[in-house]
Amino acid sequence: MSATDRDAELVYAITHRGTPPDPPEWWRGAVFYEVYTHSFRDTMGNGLGDIPGVTEKLDYIRDLGVDGLWLTPFYPSPQQDNGYDVSDFCGVHPPFGTVEDVQTLIDRAHALDLKIMFDFVFGHTSDEHPWFAESSASRDNDKADWYVWADPAPDGGPPNNWISSFGGRAWRWVPARAQYCYRPFLDCQPALNLRNQQVMAEMVGNMRFWLDMGLDGFRLDAIQCLSHDRDLRSNPPARASENPSVGGGPNNPFKQQIHLFDRDVPEAIPLLHQIRRVANDYDPPRVLIGELADVDSSRLAPKYTVDTDRLHAVYDFDLINRADTLRDWTQMLALRSSYLTPGSSLNVFTNHDSPRAVSNLMPKACAAGRDRDAAKLLLFLQCTLMGGAIIFQGEELGLTQPDIPEDEIKDPWAKALWPDFQGRDGVRCPLPWVRGEKNCGFSTSDSPWHRVPEEHHDRSVDQQERDPDSVLAFTRRVLRWRRSLPMLRTAAEHILADTPLKVIAFQREKAGQALVCAANFGLEAAKITLPRSSLTPQFSHGDFTLDADHLTLGPLAVIALS
Ligand code: NOJ
Repeated sequence: MSATDRDAELVYAITHRGTPPDPPEWWRGAVFYEVYTHSFRDTMGNGLGDIPGVTEKLDYIRDLGVDGLWLTPFYPSPQQDNGYDVSDFCGVHPPFGTVEDVQTLIDRAHALDLKIMFDFVFGHTSDEHPWFAESSASRDNDKADWYVWADPAPDGGPPNNWISSFGGRAWRWVPARAQYCYRPFLDCQPALNLRNQQVMAEMVGNMRFWLDMGLDGFRLDAIQCLSHDRDLRSNPPARASENPSVGGGPNNPFKQQIHLFDRDVPEAIPLLHQIRRVANDYDPPRVLIGELADVDSSRLAPKYTVDTDRLHAVYDFDLINRADTLRDWTQMLALRSSYLTPGSSLNVFTNHDSPRAVSNLMPKACAAGRDRDAAKLLLFLQCTLMGGAIIFQGEELGLTQPDIPEDEIKDPWAKALWPDFQGRDGVRCPLPWVRGEKNCGFSTSDSPWHRVPEEHHDRSVDQQERDPDSVLAFTRRVLRWRRSLPMLRTAAEHILADTPLKVIAFQREKAGQALVCAANFGLEAAKITLPRSSLTPQFSHGDFTLDADHLTLGPLAVIALS
């Protein structure tokens, strides 16, 4: 594999950017709601959310106006990485329920006209998976080649310099084999050797187990890690600033390398073809949405979605991790709208791996006590920028990022990099359903896995349902409006240049229809010149005045005009 192969893939992707079919497939430009299983709703009283809890709240999800939901891993797991360390791909971790509960959930979602996707971790397993027990026992067992094994370097150290995304060497020494095992995340998450067709066949069988139950598709975990350099070559060094897409705080050692040989390698593309063939085997075809992290995704995402034999769509972290200035953000949006096929990426402002969006992206508005308006602005953008969207649970309530004291930290990533990196516990706190109830109605347990932060109590669903001006009411309104405008799902996008510093404005266009959208991130009014006059407001929040082709937007106001 050479740098030229990588470039060729990118050139191919950009030059083969397609036009979405009309009418678009259901997933294109769709809006999903991410349910973090652990923290959504506990019906069993064990302090963890569960599958029946999701079923119980499906009406709530449907009423938001989303197209479907994605559920984070609920498979049997030692829970070292909250379920992303899977020890059995075809079961349910007992505290979350049973396989029958899952079938009920799928059926009920469909009855409500919601699509439903599960997480699927293709690249690694838990070290408690029976495959690993066998593979790690000796060098000559039936599964000896099912994981990525390598002899030590001549000095006895790891075979190369690769680093884990969570910090530290990406190799674990296994005495029984006198070899190192590759693990791109935690020690307990060994990477599968997907070049081995027996492994691929087993993994495909595991996918089919859930797809056969009627599941609509998968969110595929960490697709940048599906493969790696065959020759295990060491990565070249980098300055941290060369890795702006990488999370984990400013000093994450993972930022000190160019991830030429351990992330986003060309060898992953044939694997994507294989996985897509499985999804296409079904009628209707099932959908694959990839998580693309650690890499310069705004530039690389097209590779993963070009043509009809890779993934349907991807989401990434660039809009979360690269928000130093609004100008950078706007430039990145412009790049994305010129690279990506409309509807093949999902706008994500936060998820279970990132801080809450308002606190991360709009700290000044939060400091000024305007976090609710800021939350509405971000929801508006998620729903109007080119692409679909994934709304993480609690964003519809405008939840802010809570501080989690060190002794309550559970996230292994935070433990590895503390105090530089506060980790992911804050965003994973339970959803507040009813103010005043025990654990705000999340759980009846005396020891929920995380407590509901004090500052979230007033934001409970029951409180917001009573308030027509709440973030929840806004979410329902903006999603209802979005649904009434199908062009928003696949229209091309043009980011308007020369807007005031604090304003993002763009035009969506499709088949002679055009919609101009603008959002003022500032705490003062801002005036912009519209591309033409005689535009009529279609949707707005906050103050604005319109005078011919001049629009003045009040602080944190948003508007769409056509
Ligand atoms: C991506 C998941 O979103 C994250 O939560 C997890 O820690 C890593 N993959 C490793 O499994």
